[in-house]
Amino acid sequence: MRMLCFMTLGLFFALIASPLMATPAQKDAASSQSSLATGQRLFLDNCAECHQRNGRGIEGIYPSLASSEVVRGSGVDVALQLIIGRGEMPSFASAMGAEEMADLINYVRNAWGNEGDAIDAATIERLIK
Ligand code: HEC
Repeated sequence: MRMLCFMTLGLFFALIASPLMATPAQKDAASSQSSLATGQRLFLDNCAECHQRNGRGIEGIYPSLASSEVVRGSGVDVALQLIIGRGEMPSFASAMGAEEMADLINYVRNAWGNEGDAIDAATIERLIK
């Protein structure tokens, strides 16, 4: 009797708990989808004017981000460049917050054939300070 009871309980948890446990992962996937969409919008609004919509820039004037060592190398380097600016490129420190920069960098580092690990807003926050 006790055995049966445990089995019923087990089945109960398997049925009830598994969809509950799946939820955070699905939420993550959904939120990273919307972060990428935000990143893409930020890129089109702030960067595409120089680096072009396809990320390939204009030879001799605006470097390509599609095959850039800086972009592929590390999210921190890209963040520092956005915060400080470089040459003709303005700083974006007052134009966007850490969360937006993270979305933008994660988009750029995973667009046009790039593949980079994600950077989070907290890391960027520390660079700004
Ligand atoms: C006004 C034009 C302009 C805009 C807008 C601009 N950039 Fe740039 N960007 C440049 C120029 C010019 C360079 C090269 C700077 C240098 O090396 O002197 C550059 C360099 C870079 C690099 C380094 C690439 C490499 O391989 O060296 C990255 C990364 C980058 N930009 C990202 C961005 C992102 C992301 C945005 C949007 C927030 C952006 N840029 C907006 C002009 C621009």
